[in-house]
This record gives sequence, structure tokens and C-alpha cells, in this order.
Amino acid sequence: MSHSEANRVRIFDTTLRDGEQSPGASMTLEEKLQIARVLENMRVDVIEAGFAIASNGDFECVNRIAKEIKDSTVCSLARAALGDIDRAGEAIKPANSGRIHTFIATSPLHMKVKLQMEPEAVIEAIHASVSRACTFTNDVEWSAEDATRTEIDFLCRAVETAIKAGATTINLPDTVGYATPQEYMDMFKAVIERVPNSDKAIFSTHCHNDLGLAVANSLAGVAGGARQVECTINGIGERAGNAAMEEIVMALKVRGDALPYHTRIKTEEIMRASKLVSTVTGFTVQNNKAIVGANAFAHESGIHQDGVLKAAETYEIMTPESVGVTKSVLTMGKHSGRHAFADKLKDLGYELGDNAFQECFRRFKELGDRKKNIYDEDIIALVDDEVATWANRMQVISLNTYSSSNGEAVANLTMAIDGEKAKTVTYGSGPVDAAFNAIKDLIGMEPHLQLFQVHAVTQGTDAQAECTVRLEEGGRTVNGQGAHEDTVTAAARAYVSAVNKLLVKREKKAPDEAAKVVAAK
Ligand code: KIV
Ligand code: ZN
Repeated sequence: MSHSEANRVRIFDTTLRDGEQSPGASMTLEEKLQIARVLENMRVDVIEAGFAIASNGDFECVNRIAKEIKDSTVCSLARAALGDIDRAGEAIKPANSGRIHTFIATSPLHMKVKLQMEPEAVIEAIHASVSRACTFTNDVEWSAEDATRTEIDFLCRAVETAIKAGATTINLPDTVGYATPQEYMDMFKAVIERVPNSDKAIFSTHCHNDLGLAVANSLAGVAGGARQVECTINGIGERAGNAAMEEIVMALKVRGDALPYHTRIKTEEIMRASKLVSTVTGFTVQNNKAIVGANAFAHESGIHQDGVLKAAETYEIMTPESVGVTKSVLTMGKHSGRHAFADKLKDLGYELGDNAFQECFRRFKELGDRKKNIYDEDIIALVDDEVATWANRMQVISLNTYSSSNGEAVANLTMAIDGEKAKTVTYGSGPVDAAFNAIKDLIGMEPHLQLFQVHAVTQGTDAQAECTVRLEEGGRTVNGQGAHEDTVTAAARAYVSAVNKLLVKREKKAPDEAAKVVAAK
């Protein structure tokens, strides 16, 4: 494999922007910060931290990440409208290295039906928006939304215009996941060859997975000349999702012979990132998912097990350790002290503020009283749960439930709501139902419960439960998660986490595509 700069593929992670556009995947500021830290630690080149104009919360997220992250470029998305670009520029101002990513649709269908703009007006808007973005930073990316359904002559004109106006990265998305690998590669080759100033920009892929081709298409784009890949952890994203980062990075690493390109990603951090994104979004990773699924390195048949015991390469094309999969390690017990706990958190890649640390340590001791063996997975579940909830407006303080096989269950719940304590006693047909009724009683909201799911973090009947709750209100869906050694408490924490996300989402304007695309003249 050649490690020349010419063959280096930049990894642009959009988990926090396109990933957050998965139905139900909204994330809080604390959660986004935690994910951004993990991405930086993985050596992701660019983190798309959000869409600054979408809400004050989104602005705040991009801005906080821009302030904190030092080793990755921090990027905000913006439509081709002055207000969007100015807000993105403001949000990335504190970054060590900040990028504005502006886009407009270029396919005949999108221009006519969605934008209701003539092609000439789109060309003008590209020039105006990129020029405006360049007044904030010299790192400007321009995307031709729905590039794969755009006429090639028009696409070349649009790309040439964007580069002339100052764009240094050109992204050609397969917005609707429609292209085949051959078509996607050919499009890059044609644009790079035909656009006279194409050598002044880095070309980028951005693939959606509607036909299950997002990773194959991204790799084909690289073969066609792209040197940036846009992707998400676990492949989350709009509809069927985006190209999965872990699959792209490992394909390039494992098959360097056939794909002579390289990234700078620390692949040993992949599993950590996958687990965190799955916990925060509530999207569990399917068992047979490539690279990060629970079965990705499991060998079931006797023949395979025998082969792997003799020589792992017989059935393993990469080692579990290379993507950060480690055996369940018995780590700590109830006698482990504050220092040992702090060291363990450091090993697992966490950096917690004082308050969060104290609370995690308290819960760790509590867990130690109830559970004999504490594994890394227990600590990860506990800390991820704490990080996801500690800054929330609504929190569960205590919950006692009583249930029997022949009668109503009762829940006695105390919550903190905007810093004030509130209590109630409520009934239900089972303990989880009673706990959810108690929460609704205290918060004065009646969201629709779409999904309730439980799984055990480790083996054994004393394992912590990790619960996911999906709620819907006024067309908005959110996932919340909670972990606890008491299953009903885990369920209540998950419900309250989802309610907090609904509150955040209420504030968010839908990025209105029909909003006036303002040429910055
Ligand atoms: O899929 C897409 O076209 C996008 C653009 C905004 C880059 O997400
Ligand atoms: Zn997209």
C-alpha cells in the first residue's frame, strides 16, 4: 500500500449532522460533545458538528465543539442562504480549524420542484454562497445535492463555479442512494477530467444506503479520484443511513493490496465509538453488522472454531483487537477505590468533569454492592448513561415499584424538574407501565410510546439492564436510553432521557428547503 499524501483519504464524519437526521436520533449537547471527543481521539479529519441555523441548540453544539476540539477540523452545514452561512461562520469561529459546508441541489428535479429555481439562478447562488462562506474561513466545502441525478454538463459548470468562488472541497453526494459503484466512479472521473480548475479542490464522496450500496459506492468514488469520504459511525443517517465509517476504514486497511489508499484513523477506537453512538441514539447495532456487530468475530460452527484455534487467519481477515474488540475483562469490584476508578475511565477513553466523575463513582460503588463482578461493559454502560443524563432538565431521583402476579403495580417516583423536586404515586398494569404513568403525571406530557426495548449489558441475572424508549409527539420521534441494575429504573431513565430530547427537539426548526435561497449580491 502506498502511503503517499496523494493516496490519503480524509475521513469526514457526519454522525452529528446527517446521523442525527435519522428518525429518533436527536442528541443533547453533552452527548454530542462526548462523541466529538471520541472522534477526535480516533483522528477523524473533519467533524460535521451540526447545522448551526437549525436551532439555538444546534448553534450551541457546533460552537462548543469548535471551542473544545483541537485536532480535527470542525464544520457546520449551511444552505445557500446568507443567514445560514453567517450563522455557520459565527458557530465555527472559535475553532482551531473550522470549515463551512454549503450546499444546493443541482438535479433538474430538485431545482424545478423543490427549489423552484432556474439553473442560471442556481449557478448564481453557488457563486454567492461560496464567496460569502469564504469571508469567514478559507476552508469551504460545496456540495451538489443530488449530484448523481444531475446532468453532467451542468454538474461540471456548477463545480467550476464553486471552485472559482473559493471552495477547496467539492462533495458529490448520492443523496437518494440511487447510484451504482460504476456510475459513481465514472461521475468523479468525468468531473475531475472536464472541470478546468478541478486540481484546486479535493473531491469528496457522500453516499446514502437506500440500495445497500453506500460503502461500495464510497470506495468506487475513491477509485474515481475522490480523496475525502463522508460517513457516519454505525452507518446511521437519513432513511437507510449513510456509508458506515468503520466499514470504509477497515476495507481500506485490510485490502490495501486492492485499494491502495489509506486514512489516518486509529482503528482500535472503532468499537468504543460504535458503542457510544449506539447508546446515545438508542439504535442498537444488528448482531451481524460488519466490523462492529456482536457476531462480527464470533465463530459458531465446529469447523470454524477448530480452524481459528489452530490459526486465527483461517477464518479471520482482521483481528478483533484491530477494531478495539476486547474480551469481557473482569475489571473491578466494590473495593476498588477512586484512583483505580479514575484510571479505568482514562483507559476506556473518558474525560469527565468533577461533578460527573463524583456521580459516576457513587453509582459504581452502588453497583458494586449489588453485583459481584464488574466488567468494562458495566462501566461503559454506567458512564454513558450518566453522560447522557446529568445535564438534563428532567431527571429521575428515586423510584420504588411494587408489583405482583395478581393485581395492579404501583410506582412511587421522585423526579427533579428544572431543579425542583416533584413526587407522585401512580398505578399501572405492570411495574414499567406504572413507572411510565408516574413520569407522565409529573411532566404533564402525553407522548406516544413507539418502542420499548431491554437488553442485558453482561451475562448473569445480576447484569445491568440497558433500555431504549422511543417516543413520538407532533410528528417528532426521539430515542432515549437508560442503564441501571434495576430494570424498571433503567426503563424510567430511558423514558425521561427521551422526554428531555423531545424538549430539545421542540425548539428545532425543520430545515425548510423552500426557504428563500438568497444570492449574496
Ligand atoms: O445527502 C446529501 O446530499 C447531504 C448534503 C447536505 C451533503 O446530506
Ligand atoms: Zn446526506
